[in-house]
Amino acid sequence: MPVETPVPEIAISLLAHYDVHARRLPWRAAPGANAADPYRVWLSEVMLQQTTVAAVGPYFTRFTHRWPDVAALAASEDADLMAAWAGLGYYARARNLLACARAVVADHGGIFPDTEEALRALPGVGAYTAAAIAAIAFGRRAVVVDANVERVVARLFAIATPLPAARTEIRAAADSITPDVRVGDFAQAMMDLGATICTSRNPACGICPLRDGCAAFRTADPAAFPVKAAKKPRPHRLGHGWWIEDGDGRVWLARRPDKGLLGGMRGLPTSDWSAAPDPTPPVEAVWSRLDAPVDHVFTHFSLALAIHVGRVESGCVPPGPGEWWPLALIEEAGLPTLFRRAADRVMKEEREDARQ
Ligand code: ADE
Repeated sequence: MPVETPVPEIAISLLAHYDVHARRLPWRAAPGANAADPYRVWLSEVMLQQTTVAAVGPYFTRFTHRWPDVAALAASEDADLMAAWAGLGYYARARNLLACARAVVADHGGIFPDTEEALRALPGVGAYTAAAIAAIAFGRRAVVVDANVERVVARLFAIATPLPAARTEIRAAADSITPDVRVGDFAQAMMDLGATICTSRNPACGICPLRDGCAAFRTADPAAFPVKAAKKPRPHRLGHGWWIEDGDGRVWLARRPDKGLLGGMRGLPTSDWSAAPDPTPPVEAVWSRLDAPVDHVFTHFSLALAIHVGRVESGCVPPGPGEWWPLALIEEAGLPTLFRRAADRVMKEEREDARQ
């Protein structure tokens, strides 16, 4: 007879709490189900990378209505998927999403593989996502550590090593409390605890089901864990963006190169983004400049994009890939947030000018 490993005390307390308090989320199976639709789990996990549950909710619902399974998603046009993703950010995820769906159809007959190792071989599926899918969709024991879980574990064990060096220790500690049963529920219960009780600031230790076993709770300041290495300041960059309007109520939207930031997305033509960007406009026009730039924070730098507005004759074709897009349909262009905010600003000024 196989020897059953006892379920760690922490897991017992956490799962009992989860049975009552699990967040109802659109991609989740009910507590105790021990499996969920791999397509929905994968899609939600990719969307949730670096993005909040609240922001993902409406996108997840729209995506699953439009593309109810992996084969439907694999058959979608790249541009449709990129436009549907607009606003969620980190656009490499959307390109990988499509590549992954196509790989599941082409290489796995449309069925998601069920081991961490095989999942990891798919485009855009890293160690965390593979572990999450293996556990949540297939009930396979896996050590699932995202930023929320990292915080919970660092506190449970009062790990004093600063991040990122602490990751190995945190992972080993997470492994030591991961049960062999209800692994998907356990992973999601840890995520919920991190998101709702064991929060970064002001953790609600008073209502925490793991308080009795928590080493950080016994210290003077549980919120001091995980300890973080001092952050490098985020560099600031400048750029120019050109709003080119023609005589037919259209704006020129460039298609950004596939590789790099906002790759493959539609946007205004811009200069390079640097300390001293090239101010040469892409076409000749009388240019006026919005009073203030559009400020946007990316992961690795912040950007102030000066917006220049110019008009050209119908029939003009600015250089590089792109298309004329009717202003009345700008909402449907799938602009990433930076350019959507630029468009909102220009169109608001134009409406105000028209009123004067
Ligand atoms: N964050 C990442 N995956 C999640 C999940 N399955 N439930 C809640 N939050 C998450």
